[in-house]
Amino acid sequence: EARSRAEAMLQRMTLEEKAGQLVQYFDFGGATVANPKATAVNIDAAIAKGEVGSMLFVTDPVRINALQELAVKKTRLGIPLLIGYDVIHGLHTIMPVPIAMAASWDPATAERGQAVAASEARAVGINWTFAPMVDITMDPRWGRMVEGAGEDPVLGAAMAAAQVRGFQGGAIGTPGHVLSGPKHFVGYGASFGGRDYDEVDLSESQLRNTYLPPFKAALDAGAGNIMSAYMGLNGVPAAANTWLLTDVLRKEWGFKGFVVSDANGVDSLEKQGMAGSPKQAAVRALEAGMDLAMTVPSNPSPMLSLVDAVKGGEVAESALDGPVLRLLEAKYRLGLFDKPYVDPKAVPRTFDDPAHREVARIAAERSAVLLANAGGLLPVDRSKLKSVAVIGPLGDAGHDMLGPWVFSSNKPEGVSVLAGLRAKLGAGVKVEYAMGTAWPTRKNPSFFDAMNKPGEHPAIDEKAELARAIALAKQSDVAVMVLGEAQNMAGEFASRSDLKLPGRQQELLDAVIATGKPVVVVLVNGRPLSLGDAKPGAVLEAWYPGSEGGNAVANLLLGDANPGGKLPFSWIRSAAQAPYTYAYLPSHQPGSADKRYWNEDNSPTWPFGHGLSYTTFAYGKLAVDRASVKLGEPVTVSFDLTNTGKRAGDEVAQLYIHQRVGTSSRPVRQLKKFARVALAPGETKHMQFTLTADDLRYWSAATKGWVQDDSAFDVWVGGDSKADMATTFTVAK
Ligand code: IFM
Repeated sequence: EARSRAEAMLQRMTLEEKAGQLVQYFDFGGATVANPKATAVNIDAAIAKGEVGSMLFVTDPVRINALQELAVKKTRLGIPLLIGYDVIHGLHTIMPVPIAMAASWDPATAERGQAVAASEARAVGINWTFAPMVDITMDPRWGRMVEGAGEDPVLGAAMAAAQVRGFQGGAIGTPGHVLSGPKHFVGYGASFGGRDYDEVDLSESQLRNTYLPPFKAALDAGAGNIMSAYMGLNGVPAAANTWLLTDVLRKEWGFKGFVVSDANGVDSLEKQGMAGSPKQAAVRALEAGMDLAMTVPSNPSPMLSLVDAVKGGEVAESALDGPVLRLLEAKYRLGLFDKPYVDPKAVPRTFDDPAHREVARIAAERSAVLLANAGGLLPVDRSKLKSVAVIGPLGDAGHDMLGPWVFSSNKPEGVSVLAGLRAKLGAGVKVEYAMGTAWPTRKNPSFFDAMNKPGEHPAIDEKAELARAIALAKQSDVAVMVLGEAQNMAGEFASRSDLKLPGRQQELLDAVIATGKPVVVVLVNGRPLSLGDAKPGAVLEAWYPGSEGGNAVANLLLGDANPGGKLPFSWIRSAAQAPYTYAYLPSHQPGSADKRYWNEDNSPTWPFGHGLSYTTFAYGKLAVDRASVKLGEPVTVSFDLTNTGKRAGDEVAQLYIHQRVGTSSRPVRQLKKFARVALAPGETKHMQFTLTADDLRYWSAATKGWVQDDSAFDVWVGGDSKADMATTFTVAK
């Protein structure tokens, strides 16, 4: 029905009205805008003239209603606006960042979190999110690693699909949900040097085997939109890349939704040397497969120049019809023609729903990864606990627990670790705080700082503060050191050239460990960080855990929640190892794989898939149902998983394969299946994973196509990518 209504509407549209539908503008609201030129286009007048089809970056329901009213009442055809926004991990109630959700290895957790995010967004009138970000990255220097699911395509695809389901709630138009737009198509996570926005050069085999599968999974889950990347892929800017936007997306995958550019992605074709004018940029993008141009309104959208281009014979008017139809169809499917407005009075009820906080807390608990726990320091034994020292710049920083893509205008709140521990431990245990060192700051400022004000961090006397932290640790039973990266050190425009703890946090950590007191490090971050040579008693990766972060961390430290997350990337020792993946291709010298540098090992500090628990697990009885199968047939791998400890806990069972011989080299290991399993103490579960022909297929550079080879396969099952319980099977012709 949406399609036929869209077709009928298209018949009534003038060329100018069609071009207007291809325009999307930011509405920064003036005051918070980093770019003073941003208001050069009069947004309200442009909407009333029918020169805008979509807006973004507006979250005030009153303003959104006003914008919709202009579109609905002042234009000839009354077409409502798509209202897009970066609802990446929450709007008001903030979920753990996406890399954390991936660390839960639990798609259902991600789905629930994004459903909450969708409901808050829809309540204010946002009907479309620029999420999930499904870019694979093997380079933690890249700041946007925090927004994705890490280095692996199988985990990435599962998380991509789950998030789409959460946002859209099934079919597009499900009440209380929003349209989902996976991004950034494609390869953005492989930028040279991990530098944001730099060019990307990826082989077709890397694209098809690793970088494209999460996008395909997101679209198969029903995502209605896709956002193209900013940068050039193999020499052609993604916004004008016909191979990507038309050949792969439309012809191979049959995608029926619409494509949006990243911010100024169409105008930027001029800067990127693909167009000599805004008009040529618009024509090139349109011809490559672009539907909607996201534009900072410092200049009118290049899409408006398509009117001249059509009149001048540079492009046929019919070239606009497909894009317009797709955009109209999305608006009909979202129900915007029937219900363009929201009730601002209903917003607080949605924002303050206690169930949302509960989802956020559980997600934060399930996302945490226990990286180290020497001697079983965690969980902290409460029975003898009298005093806790919370130390480190992030210990009392509730706002920084929220992570990137959280904006002050949405009034997000975050519980710090200090607040969480105090609330949980009550008056009987003294919980005191020392910052220990100055607030870590960026050398180059972030343009997001204008929109996100975490609070002032007054200058401190570094020496005195360090002494205070040491004294506090000495007086306390345990030191909980909350270290990592401030909120603006991860995300867009937040790449870095090393992975050290920012500022003087390493010095602080070393000094507190030197007191001899038990030290637990809680990391707040979105990428691997080096702890130098420090060996704290325990390391808990909390990520940017969101609104309920401090409460979740308190539950985890004190054993009311048991960590069950696993790393969604290899935790490399230093940035010099990047890019890095556990799934590398075998070399002619496999034995020296970890010795490629003479000054340090190439192995990661912690491998992909690593994560401990307060209980222990044992794997056994690994078997395949058939030692040999024919091409195209499935093989089932089974094993027993037992909780051998005294506490209930979750284990993420992981299955890796290696194809020994192929038409192209295959990675030394590849994750193929995983399951997060809850086990009571002493409980054993019999597990089965079935590998289908699809799981064994790959895109071969040698044959330039998808193949399944006859070969022997190694199979490993265990709790991380170093799993050593092994078996084999053979695929025969
Ligand atoms: O959605 C984002 C994108 O990820 C980066 N550039 C700006 C867009 C809109 O905010």
